[in-house]
Amino acid sequence: MNLTIVGTGYVGLVTAVCFAEKGHNVTCVDVDEEKIEKLKHGVPTIFEEGLPELMKKNFGRINYTSDGKKAYTASNCVFICVGTPEKQDGSANLKFVWNVVKDLAATIKNNCVVVVKSTVPVGTNAKISKYLAEHKQIGAEFYVVSNPEFLSQGSAVHDTLHASRIVIGADDDYAKRQMEAVYQNFDVPKVFVNPQSAEMIKYASNDFLALKISYINEIANLCELVGADISDVAKGMGFDKRIGEKFLQAGVGYGGSCFPKDTKALHWMSAFYDKELKTIKAAIEVNEQQKLLLIKKARKYYDSFENLKIAVLGVTFKPGTDDLRDAPSLVSIPIFLDDGAEVNVYDPIGENNLKKILKNKITYCKTPQKALTNADLCFIFTEWAEIKNLKYADFALMKQVIIFDGRNCYDLHDVKKYPVIYESIGRKTINNLSDENV
Ligand code: UDX
Repeated sequence: MNLTIVGTGYVGLVTAVCFAEKGHNVTCVDVDEEKIEKLKHGVPTIFEEGLPELMKKNFGRINYTSDGKKAYTASNCVFICVGTPEKQDGSANLKFVWNVVKDLAATIKNNCVVVVKSTVPVGTNAKISKYLAEHKQIGAEFYVVSNPEFLSQGSAVHDTLHASRIVIGADDDYAKRQMEAVYQNFDVPKVFVNPQSAEMIKYASNDFLALKISYINEIANLCELVGADISDVAKGMGFDKRIGEKFLQAGVGYGGSCFPKDTKALHWMSAFYDKELKTIKAAIEVNEQQKLLLIKKARKYYDSFENLKIAVLGVTFKPGTDDLRDAPSLVSIPIFLDDGAEVNVYDPIGENNLKKILKNKITYCKTPQKALTNADLCFIFTEWAEIKNLKYADFALMKQVIIFDGRNCYDLHDVKKYPVIYESIGRKTINNLSDENV
């Protein structure tokens, strides 16, 4: 089939490359001409495992263009994969989605299945359908389908090729048949529902996972007070298949382009219907507090970070991605800087994106050892393998080894052998330094 993908972010680009891998001819459209130029030359614009290889392998089956109108007319299905960022009030900003819809209405003169992959509030597909019916050109027939995306950054290619399920929200038989054809080579469960249910499945799934994380984080915080260990507690819970072992990793809070935005959007949506979802509200509040947890822990030792040298290990919202959107590190680093600390950051992949935000306010280190040398304190925000594999000898480069680990990277049995202060999440504090050293 000839498919057009609009938006070449994490969802759009990965979807396009995976469709090409499954034998479709794909045209990628993006308004960002710089991005399109890079992609035309085979240069991936995002960091994703396996993406460069698949882009190269399927180069002949993927076109890249910033001329959307031309691409729309030549395809059976147009997938809308543009961003739906958060507005100031927490609701989803659909400006980019509507720009595409308006272009489609003005351009298409034949049958076209419009597939909405962008995460949009429940009811948006119906609004798009109505708009297209009212504004279409002579000869045009539009079929709007909701097809939410569940890929995780860092494993996006794998998640797309081996999805847990493909959700298709369509009211019309022609649209359903077209979607069956698009996904015929994907050997995964397909769930056919109405568009509103498909839209809701996306929010309900993401927000459930966010809720699970906030829940385990609250339990972790209580574990610290009662002498329990969250790693053991999560292990003990995870054996119960009804609970599951995944997403029970306590930490310094969830970030990324989805959970923070989608929890707020669902909260906003429920408030709009005068039906507040108290659980989602709680998940949001807990996460906001959790992002400040390492700072609170450090304040027990230091009233201010003034003149301290701080090593920050890991800044991306999780390992395996260069994405910094809503990363917990971005809440803490400005606090260090405001206090007057010197901040040395190491991240294996996130440096370029961090430079766009923090410019020359911090020092960028190519190795964790460089960041740690002569540091007074160390903060860990991302559990990259390069950070988890560090040894005591690496931390011994610090003036004194004081670590605030937001991702529980190290085994407490190992840590307690060394002269360190080590605070993690939901576990016992190790304090083997005498007070006058701190
Ligand atoms: C998420 C969903 O998993 C995916 O299905 C959806 O399509 C998009 O949103 P993603 O944002 O890529 O994917 O990352 P995910 O792996 O879900 O992690 C999100 C955040 O939660 C990260 O900051 C991560 O560190 C945190 N997290 C995750 C935890 O704190 N504990 C956990 O146990 C799992």
